[in-house]
Amino acid sequence: MLENPQRYTVTAALIYANGPIHIGHIAGCYLPADIYVRYLRSTGKDVAFISGTDEHGVPITIKAKKEGITPQEVVDKYYVQIKQAFSDFGISFDIYSRTSNQIHHETSQEFFTKLYEKGDFDEEVTEQYYDEVAGQFLADRYIVGTCPVCGNPNAYGDQCERCGTALSPTELIEPHSMLSGSKPVMRSTKNWFLPLDRMQPTIEKYVNSHTEWKTNVFGQCQSWLKEGLRPRAMTRDLDWGIKVPLPDADGKVLYVWFDAPIGYISMTKEWAAEQGRDWELYWRNEQTKLVHFIGKDNIVFHCIIFPAMLMAEGSYILADNVPANEFMNLEGDKISTSRNWAVWLHEYLEELPGKQDVLRYVLAANAPETKDSEFTWKDFQTRNNAELVGIFGNFVNRAVVLTQKFCDGKVPSTGELTDYDKQVIDELAQFPDRIGQSIENYKFREALGLLMDLARLGNKYLAETEPWKVVKTDPLRANTILNIALQISANLSIVCEPFLPFTSEKLRSQLGITEHFNWTNAGRADLLVEGTLLGKGALLFAKIEDDEINTQIQKLLNAKRMNELETKTVPELRSEITYDDFAKMDIRIGTITEAERVPKSDKLLKLKVDDGLGGRQILSGIAKHFAPEEIIGKQVTFLANLAPRKMMGFESQGMILMAEDRDGKLALIAPGDAVWNGGTVS
Ligand code: 2FM
Ligand code: ZN
Repeated sequence: MLENPQRYTVTAALIYANGPIHIGHIAGCYLPADIYVRYLRSTGKDVAFISGTDEHGVPITIKAKKEGITPQEVVDKYYVQIKQAFSDFGISFDIYSRTSNQIHHETSQEFFTKLYEKGDFDEEVTEQYYDEVAGQFLADRYIVGTCPVCGNPNAYGDQCERCGTALSPTELIEPHSMLSGSKPVMRSTKNWFLPLDRMQPTIEKYVNSHTEWKTNVFGQCQSWLKEGLRPRAMTRDLDWGIKVPLPDADGKVLYVWFDAPIGYISMTKEWAAEQGRDWELYWRNEQTKLVHFIGKDNIVFHCIIFPAMLMAEGSYILADNVPANEFMNLEGDKISTSRNWAVWLHEYLEELPGKQDVLRYVLAANAPETKDSEFTWKDFQTRNNAELVGIFGNFVNRAVVLTQKFCDGKVPSTGELTDYDKQVIDELAQFPDRIGQSIENYKFREALGLLMDLARLGNKYLAETEPWKVVKTDPLRANTILNIALQISANLSIVCEPFLPFTSEKLRSQLGITEHFNWTNAGRADLLVEGTLLGKGALLFAKIEDDEINTQIQKLLNAKRMNELETKTVPELRSEITYDDFAKMDIRIGTITEAERVPKSDKLLKLKVDDGLGGRQILSGIAKHFAPEEIIGKQVTFLANLAPRKMMGFESQGMILMAEDRDGKLALIAPGDAVWNGGTVS
């Protein structure tokens, strides 16, 4: 961990420009990044806050095909929409650019060429599906066929969305190309691989030098390393992307996860050129702290693959931290773009205008920092009404209104301070450091809690000193109390800025603050000079009524209904069987005692199951749904008399039974109460 860096490069994930952004993206990555950066700026640090859209890769071409427009039209549309939504929401990027820019293509190609010339890549020829009619190789997603597991005729080459099974294109029955409908053929193709296997010791050393990383991040890295890294192709046979800068690479582009993170560098170059700064200071100076904000699905790319690329290149600094968040769910269900189960940022901004800070507050208070969290509209309403209106707004409003009423709207003078005044001023002085510490440790929820504690301190102070009563007998004492209350409010305007920038601005103007106070001024009880005229008073937050919330809830219910109409939720019953048919199956209960991935397979887990008979080995195609460590110790139901069969060189002695959710997600079937291992199901 770099102590006292001279400057910071802070990046937020380059989201695919193939759809609008929703609250899950904001809570997972962009809001924590913005809080962090705003805080750093307020403490006077030199920061570059970099982000933009990722405009390459199969997600873009799939969207284009779905909408019947070109990939270029897709990225042009969403780049503008996403950039606008971020800006309206107060995410204060120094630059929000795009990976389709010339400078990015050049930077990525130079990077690739350098690795190529140093001999860092392994060239390998592999067999891949090719569409002879369309004249191109097919990404797994572009191959459709019948699922070997559930018979779904529209399974994709990487996954069956009906049964959730992870597939490889060669497993599909009657595969055909999504592009031309023709039957694809196998053709050999050359690609350039980064030998992550050989680089593992260096990567391990890097990751292990960061035991301070968040547990979810560090743990995920360890699990990848434990499995053993495999070489990964850095080029793809696609026509959408950045051309591979080699003479014998026609029809090949850089792997999107090769070019996208280099986007952080090329965008820094763009920004630095605009600002007349030296971009290299932000990427090639050991005194620069590089921090990547991302969601949990991007951890391996930012903690292992991108650092490996940077190490191979040799002239760049590596991330000091990658504070990835978990996911935020919505009203009891996973956020899903395809099911329209989301709160879209651009719609929120239109439908609840002027309420950016309410959403910022709710998402930060409930951020999925250590585990998945949940957004509900009722919670949104409660947090607004009880916390923002009831605590923060209430305190500031009382301080301002009482000053208007008793002090002609001017900051009053202070008289002699009581012990209680001194104690409150003392407590006030400690808040900025405490809040700052939490932010520096990426504990944004904790920091926000402390911010609210400062408002609570203000409320308590007014409640105990009762200036509205004191003024009748001792107006000078009332002046002192109001001065202190206003000083607390001025401090709130500084320390709330990273979280609630719009509110901070309003508060500054209500308090008549014209100076550029920042974190270094915070903690003082003399920020407001006696006699300063307060600005116009207006409530900082408004109560949110039931009908506003109900409209939003209704919108989600409509989305759910539409979705249920579109998707067949419950499969049809299979044909009837007799009891004897059923009785042939020996279904039993066991406990998983060991679990590990099967080498070279991304879908199989090799399990050891305690069946009460000495244990058995079962291979199960669930690797995309469960990490080995999360299922060890779980009881499961399994078919015990299924004929053994070999998979990837290992014998499987039975089959684990799974339940499938509507969205294809799998769940283990365990007995409701613990049952002894070997217990039979009848
Ligand atoms: O998950 C995504 O949306 C990716 N486009 C994130 C890329 S982050 C970085 F590497 F650019
Ligand atoms: Zn299937």
